Amino acid sequence: MAVDILKISKDAQEAAKIYDDVINASIGMFYDENKNIGGMPTVSKAIRNLTDEEILPYPAVDGGSLFKNNLYSWVFGQYESEIRSKLFVGACATPGGSGAIASTFALLAKPGESVLVSDIRWQYERFADRAKLNIHEHHLFDGDHFNLKSFKEELEKLCKIQKRVIVIINDPCHNPTGFTLSETEFQEIIHILNAQTDNDIVFLYDLAYLEYSHESDNRKKIASLTQIKPHVLTIIAFSGSKTFGIYGLRMGAAIYLSPLEKKIKEVHPMFVNEARGSWSATPTITIELFNHFASAENRAGFLKDLAKINTLVQERSQSFISQAKEIGLKTHPFRSGFYTVVLTPNPEKDYLKLAEHHIYAVPMNGGIRIALCSISKKEIIGLPQKIKTILSL
Ligand SMILES: Cc1ncc(COP(=O)(O)O)c(C=O)c1O
Repeated sequence: MAVDILKISKDAQEAAKIYDDVINASIGMFYDENKNIGGMPTVSKAIRNLTDEEILPYPAVDGGSLFKNNLYSWVFGQYESEIRSKLFVGACATPGGSGAIASTFALLAKPGESVLVSDIRWQYERFADRAKLNIHEHHLFDGDHFNLKSFKEELEKLCKIQKRVIVIINDPCHNPTGFTLSETEFQEIIHILNAQTDNDIVFLYDLAYLEYSHESDNRKKIASLTQIKPHVLTIIAFSGSKTFGIYGLRMGAAIYLSPLEKKIKEVHPMFVNEARGSWSATPTITIELFNHFASAENRAGFLKDLAKINTLVQERSQSFISQAKEIGLKTHPFRSGFYTVVLTPNPEKDYLKLAEHHIYAVPMNGGIRIALCSISKKEIIGLPQKIKTILSL
């Protein structure tokens, strides 16, 4: 279902100029309780304090060694030395997590091939369309859990048809459901990928919302990547947009990991070439901003801002989910994150009905996605009931 989320959000903004009861729950950007975007004063200040030298020149296409080393430390956290002792790693800066996904599709699959995605998902078909790839689905859920059986079956089917298979997992805080895999589920996924020894597997691990997970250790699953076998190339899609709330600046990276050095040496120039031949280079400002926050002192300030956002989003989601439960409004299994999905019979019609009542949300496979990141606690009071009444659920 390829709706234009940015257009729905624009429609909501236009409606808000006329009506004072508009709820814009359409877009994945954090707004505070007073409708200010970003919510991270440390980030806004750091952007304003960058010098011309940190903004204007061309950067190294892959971001440069400082950026890449800072990136590994950030993403791998306390598991950096363990991961780097067992796997070879490399990286290329990209404009957002989107750049990492688009280039993986363009470089590592041939037109006409299929990529394995879940039946409920973010808009991966847009990247697939551009790379002339097809979508092959597995069921995301089995009750309240990740559907390992369907994942395994569909992967096996695809592995019989094509040698190289790109598999996408979006975790933690899955968009659009807010689901987060357990450590056991994640390890099972790795075992399933490891079992396809006759194929080349590309495990595209989209962890755009890594910082918004409420797991006690949100890097632990990344450490399980040390178990990948030589036929599995992992590509982590990192999103600076979500991490730092800088959606329009386009910060991101592809981080590749493999037990085989040869694979990393092969893939790195491909990513650099893809960048040079499409977007040319990721904005210097994002690379310098990331390097700024890599220092322990600056990072500590950022983490305080992040904690505030996380608390607020969790309060919003708890309010929405508990009200929904009380009135019997069904959602997909939710753990944490920017979104939840209300199950509705006719998402494509239902979201238009909600818009007629000035509630702007996004139709998805099986329901309507509510962006909890962008609506206030006040707006959430009574919202599940309004949705239930409008859609006669
Ligand atoms: C699941 C998921 N992955 C990746 C992205 C990419 O974000 P960006 O390209 O802005 O970093 C998004 C953005 O909404 C997302 O929801």
